[in-house]
Amino acid sequence: MNSKIEKLDSKIAEAKLGGGQKRIDRQHQKGKLTARERINYLLDEGSFEEIGILVTHRTTDFGMENQKFYGDGVVTGYGTVNGRLVYVFAQDFTVFGGSLSETHAEKICKIMDLAVKVGAPLIGLNDSGGARIQEGVRSLGGYADIFYRNVQASGVIPQISAIMGPCAGGAVYSPAMTDFTVMVENSSYMFVTGPNVVKTVTNEEVTSEELGGASTHATKSGVTHLTSENDVQCLEDIKVLLSYMPQNNKEITKKLPFELKDEIREELESLVPENANKPYDMRSVIHGITDTDSFFEIHKDYAENIVVGFARLAGRSVGIVANQPMSLAGCLDVNSSKKAARFTRFCDCFNIPLLVLVDVPGFLPGTDQEWNAIITNGAKLLYALSEATVPRVSVITRKAYGGAYDVMNSKHIGADMNFAWPSAEIAVMGAKGASEIIFKKEISEAEDKEAKLAEKEAEYADLFANPYTAAERGFVDEVILPKETRRKLIKAFAMLENKKVERPNRKHGNIPL
Ligand code: HXC
Repeated sequence: MNSKIEKLDSKIAEAKLGGGQKRIDRQHQKGKLTARERINYLLDEGSFEEIGILVTHRTTDFGMENQKFYGDGVVTGYGTVNGRLVYVFAQDFTVFGGSLSETHAEKICKIMDLAVKVGAPLIGLNDSGGARIQEGVRSLGGYADIFYRNVQASGVIPQISAIMGPCAGGAVYSPAMTDFTVMVENSSYMFVTGPNVVKTVTNEEVTSEELGGASTHATKSGVTHLTSENDVQCLEDIKVLLSYMPQNNKEITKKLPFELKDEIREELESLVPENANKPYDMRSVIHGITDTDSFFEIHKDYAENIVVGFARLAGRSVGIVANQPMSLAGCLDVNSSKKAARFTRFCDCFNIPLLVLVDVPGFLPGTDQEWNAIITNGAKLLYALSEATVPRVSVITRKAYGGAYDVMNSKHIGADMNFAWPSAEIAVMGAKGASEIIFKKEISEAEDKEAKLAEKEAEYADLFANPYTAAERGFVDEVILPKETRRKLIKAFAMLENKKVERPNRKHGNIPL
């Protein structure tokens, strides 16, 4: 019996060494943790249970039968994060560069299937040279098996991808189909075709970092939702992100204990400048409304004219979509519409109520926007909000102009409660633009054109640049003082907690992609 136990022990020890100490040292020299170190850091101490530790590949081509490593380049299993069950895979770069073989893919698929059956989040820690070159189409098939499962699991369990090394070629499509991607700065990259192919085909000279590094995807493409300084920070960020979401689409996020006080926030009174053309930071409004230090921003450096992220209101998880007057005056454009639509859909999948903060002068004009399909892309946000059945509350802090008024969670598209501050201006357009059009004749005939324009502007502003016409119609439920906003929102979301909406019986809608 002892020799049998020794045999098991030696196999486990061999498996835990991955591709060997030299390759582990190389990983550390690059400032990266190994797959096992990452899992240990992510999960609660002692909670990890490994599945398939003794799996090896089945390839015999290219002398591969003599090169086998237990685990075959990926560590898979389950454990807990802050006491909550999660399934995790971590690609092991020390074994064939973490490349994906048929068996490596089978291991990932096995835990994906379990995660869906049980209803718990899936976390993938990617660090891989891509398809195992020695396996050809069997590896490609393995990728497709994972892609297919990503789609089946979408909207059923939260899926989070960390990119902690290379992620190239078709391999990028698994993270792309998960809910959130986190990239580690300076040690990870994602691209469909690398710098060499780019040079051959387009003659462009570009480094891996420029083409697909964390900062590129955080600012230019929006492929990554978050970036982290290093491996440890990345794993910490995943833990925080998880805390805002439930285990699956049938559950709601657990509320944190919270002691309610008067919840009046005087500092909100002075945030919106008197001059409607002066910007202010919508993040200050978010911080003023939400529980202390609870705001966790997503896509921070991408499409900065809209702010999205998670926060807590009296311990309850909420998703926030907010125009940002500090960037492009808070106009909606192609990228901000896509960013907000995707976030809205995540929240709706996983029963996270939505708070929409509105200060929007309209859609961004210009050929660039029109030729890049602001029509189709703006429609994404309109569609996403219209179909969302979670509790939805809006606060109009200042401008709500034109079509953007409708899009930004208006009552007309199904918002449950709409509040407006006294500074709100709800109209087809701003007073100056509107007066120049409708009083064109009067202004052109006036002796002092400027004075006439100012007079007409004031007349228009008095009538429309306020929240009262909308409130009289019931399009705004209540005009509230900024300092009362937090209290009003806490009560509104508590009131809406048991909201239920039946959707029409259909296969699925056809969001304008
Ligand atoms: C098999 C691989 C491998 C791969 C790396 N290795 N990539 N083995 N298949 N795809 C092995 C190397 O032979 C080496 O083995 C070890 O992993 C570490 O690789 P290095 O090159 O020494 O590491 P590094 O210098 O850090 O470079 C990492 C790398 C490079 C940039 C990822 O290895 C690389 O370019 N690999 C090939 C990438 C690629 O073209 N993959 C296919 C993409 S297409 P030893 O024994 O020396 O330690 C694709 C299609 C997916 O993935 C389609 C899905 C639909």
